[in-house]
Amino acid sequence: MRVSDYFKKDMFSGKTVFVTGGGSGINLGIAKNFAALGANIAICGRTQEKLDSAAEELRALGAQVHTEVADVRDFAALESAFAATRDALGPIHTLVAAAAGNFLCPAEQLSANGFKTVVDIDLLGSFNAARAAFDQLKETSGNIIFISAGMAMVPYAAQVHVGAAKAGIDNMMKTLALEWGRYGIRANSIIPGPIEGTEGMKRLAPGEAGKQLRRAVPLGRFGSTDEIGQAAVFLASPLADYISGTVLVVDGGQNLAGSGLFTQIISRELQKMAGK
Ligand code: COA
Repeated sequence: MRVSDYFKKDMFSGKTVFVTGGGSGINLGIAKNFAALGANIAICGRTQEKLDSAAEELRALGAQVHTEVADVRDFAALESAFAATRDALGPIHTLVAAAAGNFLCPAEQLSANGFKTVVDIDLLGSFNAARAAFDQLKETSGNIIFISAGMAMVPYAAQVHVGAAKAGIDNMMKTLALEWGRYGIRANSIIPGPIEGTEGMKRLAPGEAGKQLRRAVPLGRFGSTDEIGQAAVFLASPLADYISGTVLVVDGGQNLAGSGLFTQIISRELQKMAGK
């Protein structure tokens, strides 16, 4: 794995990294990059099968792994997942608050419950994780990495629910960096751009739309889950000891041109889906 060609292989040895929603996609990619540098890894998600298969990949990289079935909307479930993680692997040094839900839906068609569901998973779920991990992070002078999205910076059509949730996450991240700095806890966000082969991209840019969007990224390609993992490793590492309250955009420049092309492409896709 590329990260261990550049960072010390034992950089996170003896440290526990907890990734919410770590069973697949970008979040598993993040967990794997920490695993390659010696971290103990805990992951939670809603389905044990997904967690089991992720745990196998993480153990193959040499990590000690703990899995917990927990929905981030359920604060008590997270509290008990973090307590069990502490017993199994020691206190959490890095929390990656990454669990998210998304779908394309024009605002006028979105139900109040649809809006609430995404805000509950993304924003409330991230707060729940940070709040439940606080005591352990205080003990380790640890850090939090929130996974945000371009929609936090730029409005994207059919993403009113996600934009509201992710903008909330970045504001919350800055407030926590402000409040918890005195406990030695750092907080930062990563904004991933379009990432190859993820559930998110399947949902946001299905089929032909994906090909068109790829050409519009200034670097001319989608990113990889490892590239988000590398950014997370950097933010959690001693190299970032004085970085707190920052949003790190890892998108190949994709958001620089705004969301106009996405809106055009997605409007066409949504019309096709609606049979118009
Ligand atoms: N378009 C419009 N509304 C939708 C929708 C869609 N594609 N999918 C779900 N909703 C609405 C539902 O209709 C429901 O609202 P209602 O009660 O008014 O009908 C509400 O959202 C909750 O849906 P439900 O399926 O019960 O939620 P859930 O908690 O089981 O699942 C989701 C959460 C909807 C976010 C689901 O897509 C999910 O689990 N996603 C996780 C994976 C993911 O999104 N990965 C990409 C991350 S970037």
